[in-house]
Amino acid sequence: MISRAEFARRRRELMDLMGNNSIAILPSAKEVVRSRDTDYLFRQDSDFYYLTGFPEPDAVLVLLPGREHGEYVIFCREKDLKMETWHGRREGQVGAKKNYGCNDAFPIDDIDEILPGLMEGRDRIYYEFGNHTDFDNSIMGWVNTLRAQVKKGAHPPGELIDLSHILHDMRLIKSKAEIRVMQKAAEISANAHIAAMKRCQPGLNELQIEGELKYSFANQGARTEAYNSIVAGGENACILHYVENNCELKDGDLLLIDAGCELDGYASDISRTFPVNGKFTKEQKQAYEWVLKANKEAIKSAKPGKPWSAPHDTAVRILTKGLVEMGILEGDVDQLVEEEAYKPFYMHKTGHWIGLDVHDVGDYLQDKDPRELSEGMILTVEPGLYFAPKTKGLDKKWWGIGIRVEDDILITKRSNRILTKTVPKEVDEIEALMKPKRRRKS
Ligand code: GLY
Ligand code: MN
Ligand code: MN
Repeated sequence: MISRAEFARRRRELMDLMGNNSIAILPSAKEVVRSRDTDYLFRQDSDFYYLTGFPEPDAVLVLLPGREHGEYVIFCREKDLKMETWHGRREGQVGAKKNYGCNDAFPIDDIDEILPGLMEGRDRIYYEFGNHTDFDNSIMGWVNTLRAQVKKGAHPPGELIDLSHILHDMRLIKSKAEIRVMQKAAEISANAHIAAMKRCQPGLNELQIEGELKYSFANQGARTEAYNSIVAGGENACILHYVENNCELKDGDLLLIDAGCELDGYASDISRTFPVNGKFTKEQKQAYEWVLKANKEAIKSAKPGKPWSAPHDTAVRILTKGLVEMGILEGDVDQLVEEEAYKPFYMHKTGHWIGLDVHDVGDYLQDKDPRELSEGMILTVEPGLYFAPKTKGLDKKWWGIGIRVEDDILITKRSNRILTKTVPKEVDEIEALMKPKRRRKS
């Protein structure tokens, strides 16, 4: 769990960067209809959560550095016994102050009357434009309310600054508490992958493996997935974001699972690929060993001071070499890398930042160059090879093999730590883990 003190530290850091005479305004996420009168499970906006920990929709955070009567203000739903009987508990203004440390809390329904007064006299508004059209309009409406009062002495803010820029830079570097939560999320997901590997056998449906993952997440205290699980048997693995998860798992095929839980708002993201029947074929093993080598070498290259693109460059070189050695590409490795000849078989990047969002925020470039890795960043390393059936010029023996091996990596002071290391990825480890099933079958 992230402590109240840490949420307060984040707000302090942001307000110090904003400077006095400014105001930050950030709305919560909204409830989203799934069907008619049924909503999707509510998920708080990551930026809003990062600064408040407040779990409700219909709320707005306002930060007012230097305000005498309190710098941290929340607008939120009022207590309402009838609504709470039907739809669940609400903090109300008293709870927002008591449990979330706000200096002031107001009913959300009063925001139009109160917010212009809070803006008044401040020069700059920090706000994330373009995420919510109706809220963008509200911001302009509140500024215009003040503009209409200039003759009476009002001082409307004249500058609008993108809040996400500084906030996302803060989010990119994880604190000790964030690392603890993400390590725990990674361990829960690792255990779920192990359970799925143990359960897997020919004749099961992909959906049953998805169920195993979900059960394992929930059983360990993580209610939701960080993204829709990919459970892709055989050629389905060649569809990068395959989420139908409704096919039978076949003897002789591989199974690619890309799944991670969300814990206390933080994501994990693991991919493993293994044989449905517990034993790799010659071609599967050959391709798998190249992806695994790319994964391990790319992880080694993810070090402080190295560009964030280093793992990708490392992976691309190894995968291209592998494609040549497997007889799939022909020519000089350097030249093939230069020509991006690997792209039909490896079409995505080797990783991304991960945090409150699975594809987390934070710039990847600085002054047009790949950003340097530094302590506290967490990223995934996820090379793969995908041999879709009917690929022109590709020997049939490779068709339907899709492989990805993905780990979550914390950049430490001198090196890195693999948060997801407890899920087996060596061929012999995987085969040993799945072996009891093979014995039972025969
Ligand atoms: N599961 C999405 C990704 O690996 O980026
Ligand atoms: Mn990923
Ligand atoms: Mn993934």
